[in-house]
Order: sequence, then C-alpha cells, then structure tokens
Amino acid sequence: MTKGSSTELIHAGESDIGDAVPLTTPIYETSTFVFENAAEVAAYNQGKSTKYLYSRYANPTIVSVERKLAALERAESALLFSSGQGATTTILMAHVKAGDEVVCSAAIYGGTLHLLGDLLTRFGVLARFVTIEELAEPERVLTAATRLVWFESPINPTLRCLDIAKIAAACRARGVLSVIDNTFASPINQQPLALGVDLAMQSATKYLNGHSDVTGGSVAGPSALVDPIAKVRRLVGTVMDPYPAYALGRGLKTLPLRVARHNANAQAVAEFLAADRRVSQVYYPGLRSHPDHAIAKRQMTGFGGMVCFDLDGRYDRAEKLYDRLKVIKRAASLGGVESLISMPVLTSQWGHTDDQLRAAGVTKGMLRLSVGLEDAEDLIADLDQALGN
Ligand SMILES: Cc1ncc(COP(=O)(O)O)c(C=O)c1O
Repeated sequence: MTKGSSTELIHAGESDIGDAVPLTTPIYETSTFVFENAAEVAAYNQGKSTKYLYSRYANPTIVSVERKLAALERAESALLFSSGQGATTTILMAHVKAGDEVVCSAAIYGGTLHLLGDLLTRFGVLARFVTIEELAEPERVLTAATRLVWFESPINPTLRCLDIAKIAAACRARGVLSVIDNTFASPINQQPLALGVDLAMQSATKYLNGHSDVTGGSVAGPSALVDPIAKVRRLVGTVMDPYPAYALGRGLKTLPLRVARHNANAQAVAEFLAADRRVSQVYYPGLRSHPDHAIAKRQMTGFGGMVCFDLDGRYDRAEKLYDRLKVIKRAASLGGVESLISMPVLTSQWGHTDDQLRAAGVTKGMLRLSVGLEDAEDLIADLDQALGN
C-alpha cells in the first residue's frame, strides 16, 4: 500500500538504527514507547517485562544516568528529578504524612526552609526547625512524633558542618529517617550513605552537572526507601527530561577531576582571604580556623569549592566588592566551572526575617563564592582589586 507523504514523514526511519552500537547513551527524547501487541502491554503492567511504557515513568537516558549516580553514591538505587526542589518535595511526600514531625536544621537552603515551613505545613506536616547546636546533640531533639530529620553539611552558606554519623546513628536507633542534602560536598568529597544516612539528596544543578546548563535533582539510597519515592515521582511528575539527563550524564564523567580542582582553587582563595585584613571573617572547612574543621576532616575527603566571607557585617562593603568584580560573575547558584558570587541576603536567604538570618548564621555583609575552575591566581587578583583600599 502506498502511503501518503504525511504518513511517510511521520513513521519512516523512526527507531531504525540498524547495527549501530553507540558508545554513549543516546538521548531518548520520546514521551512514549511502542509495543508489538496487547500481550506485551499486559506483561509490562504485571512487572514481567523490561520494556518502557512512558517517559514520566522511566526513560532509558534517565535510567542510564541514574545507574551512574547509584554507582557513584555506592547506593542500591538513585533517581533523577526536574530540580533539587523537585527531589526534596518528592522525597518528603513519599516519606511523611499529616501529623508527622520533620526536624529540620534551621541553617539550611532557603528553598527547603520555605517548602517545609510554609508549604508542607498546609498539608498537616509539622516542621520543627532546630539550631546547629541542638542538632549536634540529635537524641535531644527527636520526639515520639519525629518521622524524619533533614539536614545539610556543609551548610549553605556558612559551611558549618554537622557530625553526620552521629545524627544518622541517633535517627536509626529511634526508627527516624535521616536525609542529608549533600549538594555542597558532592559525593566525591563526602559519602553520607557510608556514614549511615538513609537517603542522600542533591541539587544536580550544581556540582553533579557542573556546567551551569542543567536544572536537576537526585536522591540515592537503599531500594526499600527509593522505590516509594519513584512511585510518588510518577504521580507528581517531577521526573527529569531526557535531554538534561544526557547533559548531566556527560557532566558526571568529569566530576572527580572537576571536584579536585574546585577543592584546590577554593583552598587557595580561602587562604588568601583569611590572610587579608580587609576581610573580617572567612568560612571554609579546609581552614584550621573553621569551627568545624575537625568534623570536616573526619568525614570529608576534600573540603569543596564553596567559600564564604564577611566584610564586618556591612551591606555597603559587600555591595561594593560584589559590583567591582571582573572575572567572578555575579550570579546565584554554584558548582559550575565558572566562579560565581552571591550575597546570601539577596539570594538563598532572601525574605528571611532577622531571626531566621540569625539562626542561619547569615549577616548582611556576607559574600558566598562558588570557586570555579579558572586559574586560582586570576580569581585572587580579581578579589584583591575588588576589596579596594
Ligand atoms: C544546598 C541546596 N539544596 C537544594 C537546592 C535546590 O536545588 P534546585 O535549585 O536545583 O531546585 C539548592 C539551590 O540552590 C541548594 O543550594
């Protein structure tokens, strides 16, 4: 039967790759997958088939990157999401319900704070924010109603570190789930699952991808905890799209190389700032002066690319330096090849009350640097000129 040109253009050549065996996983930019007959669909529905049905459920490009991530995290399972916030929302929806208490570090990424404190409370989740000092003695903050503990280490933006193994052990002893946002460290510098944490979440937007061109999120952990999250992801539709998954998979291949350079550049920048009298305070876990240097040394194999510093708590001084930079770009986010600077009061802690700022340890004179992969001398020279007289 001769077909019309519209039919030919739509169907000819589709999925016809012949004997080509690609070295890299192609981008399966398809929303759905084809079956031969009804029996194949029935087998899929009964869990007796390895076929794919619909990309919101699973997609080969995404699954390939999830396997890479699980291997990196030394986890049984990993999932990708459309953003870090998508990951956080989906994890919480899968593991908490109305009436459950979530204990959350008050010193945490602003988006997590607002999600828990403003949004999930509308659905009956009880969010209780605790200080770093309180969380350092975790058995004291857990109650009979506590279902889950959510924390970061190093913490955004002060880079304070919490004893991960201690928090994980206290949670496990009481049947409470522990979840860490491991975005700042990346799994190269810190392996929270090996320290006993139940689930490790990350904004893949940052170091995992590393090129500032993907928004994504991830979670890794045992299948018994990850599978329920996958079920919720199907319902709420927070899955990543195949194209950014491909870019993320490409970025992941150089993660160890990039992180080693981020670590070295950040240490050099932090040491320069710490020795400069124009800077009142430097926060970097790799500096001996950092209050949590000992904890960081114990649980991290590298101290990361994030450096925070303070100019006497003065907004006017921070603003001046921010505006004068020439190499370092004024942009939110972190973890990319480019060095970025942000003023936490204008970005991650925007909208915080003075009390919330105090709890997060953030001042109006703080600047947060995501140290990139440029030549360290150029970054130091840029900061030097921007600090002025
Ligand atoms: C520590 C941390 N966690 C989570 C997020 C949220 O990730 P995303 O922006 O990919 O949704 C961010 C974003 O800046 C972050 O810094």
